[in-house]
Amino acid sequence: MVTYLEAETAPLKNTGQIRLHGEEGFEGMRRASRLTAMALDEMVDIVKPGTTTNEIDKFVFEFGMDHGAIPATLNYRGYTKSSCTSINHVVCHGIPNDKPLREGEVVNIDITYVLDGWHGDSSRMYPVGEIKRAAERLLEVTHECLMLGIEAVKPGARMGAIGEAIQKHAEAERCSVVRDFCGHGVGRLFHDAPNVLHYGRADEGAEMRKGMIFTIEPMINLGRPHVKVLSDGWTAVTRDRSLSAQYEHTIGVTDDGCEIFTLSPKGLDRPGLAG
Ligand code: MF3
Ligand code: CO
Ligand code: CO
Repeated sequence: MVTYLEAETAPLKNTGQIRLHGEEGFEGMRRASRLTAMALDEMVDIVKPGTTTNEIDKFVFEFGMDHGAIPATLNYRGYTKSSCTSINHVVCHGIPNDKPLREGEVVNIDITYVLDGWHGDSSRMYPVGEIKRAAERLLEVTHECLMLGIEAVKPGARMGAIGEAIQKHAEAERCSVVRDFCGHGVGRLFHDAPNVLHYGRADEGAEMRKGMIFTIEPMINLGRPHVKVLSDGWTAVTRDRSLSAQYEHTIGVTDDGCEIFTLSPKGLDRPGLAG
């Protein structure tokens, strides 16, 4: 049985109940998420052959500091970076390092800023120079999956409608959906209830209600869906080493649909425009 509670009066820990946020929460999430989207916009010019992911990470840290925000991943469960940078067959949680990006790679940059206590969580894919047509197609399909998932959000629908929309599209395009990671409730907490699955059926899961705030962040592979986590304890890769892509938005459920908090102010959050 799922229960819901007013976000303002609830304790600040994940109890499995789904928080319903009011205008104050929505306003806080708009501000934090806009900052995250602005940093992701800057990445369009920063990502190119020769840039290291540590340089990207340093920019994310300093951009946050300059705007009064802290990266949520810094010292999160032992993670020590301000961003995740996941290249090619890395599915998610790639750790920035000193290796230069190379022509033809695709990199996901995932940023969460905490601004005035609110978490804005978003990620996009960036091509490094010219990329292959197959990679381009995966980026397009993955972004379409995210937007189809978002279109399924409205009060009264079940969370499974999001997963069904994503899985149907991915598999129709002969791609696969990663099962091991999911979207999540977000707000004053980085990771809150509910889990947002990127596969499933429309009649499954909790009912969506106005005021819920969560991420949708499908990871889509060109090959099989299976992943493994490397010995660093973070880096998740496809077992078959096939290419993987991810896009993530933070959204809030409204009266008749949802508001996307992490949309790009410059319209740069779709594939084909970045890089
Ligand atoms: N930003 C990721 C998400 O979308 C979480 C990263 S946690 C980290 O939920 F520790 F790996 F950075
Ligand atoms: Co997230
Ligand atoms: Co994220």
